[in-house]
Amino acid sequence: MLPAMPPPIRIAPSLLSADFGRLADEVRAAEAAGADWIHVDVMDGRFVPNLTVGPLVVEAVRKVTRLPIDAHLMIVEPERYVEPFARAGADLISVHAEVSPHLHRTLQAIRAAGARPAVALDPSTGPEAVEWVLGDCEMVLVMTVNPGFGGQRYIEACTEKVRRLRAMADARGLALEIEVDGGIRPDTAGAVAAAGANVLVAGTAIFGAPDYRSAVAELRDAALRARG
Ligand code: DX5
Ligand code: ZN
Repeated sequence: MLPAMPPPIRIAPSLLSADFGRLADEVRAAEAAGADWIHVDVMDGRFVPNLTVGPLVVEAVRKVTRLPIDAHLMIVEPERYVEPFARAGADLISVHAEVSPHLHRTLQAIRAAGARPAVALDPSTGPEAVEWVLGDCEMVLVMTVNPGFGGQRYIEACTEKVRRLRAMADARGLALEIEVDGGIRPDTAGAVAAAGANVLVAGTAIFGAPDYRSAVAELRDAALRARG
């Protein structure tokens, strides 16, 4: 089977590193800077040690941007919250394979709720975790740091996982979105894009930069150059 056309490079700023006191302005600034998606990190203090936001914040973000909202659920029993996040305006919903024993059912529930279904994988989870649901999700989110906090270092071993996932998708003719999340900066973006990732999440590399527009452009350029 011929490999499907790879999806376009997309830059998804993670609000985790934004100034929450000025969240609406930060979202508008990310959109004006050329971002493609807005990445929202949802943490429950159980699956990950940190606590962040719920559907209420997604609803607030929805009001100030037209960009797709990419909700990354780092929570136990994610199936309980699929509907509320979809209703709040999330366009994509990622659930972690490690806490979704009935992944197939949860992915169907995300689609039924009107969002694009995605599976997230921890650094220690292999690509085979999505083998039997690859046709049921539109994206695989490869965590390239341990989930929970921004500003960590990229874990090199994850590049090979991206490569294997892209090969799995190509072998089935699937135009799968592959998202990488954690430690993505201009100096790590190239290798993951060359391996087959097309969605680059970046928190500190964008919201920690003095100029969001050049930060987004630098990431995109690095990815496009590596793709060749
Ligand atoms: C971490 C989150 C990431 C985080 C990435 O658990 O899923 O989205 O914001 O932050 P950086 O880009 O700073 O590594
Ligand atoms: Zn994330």
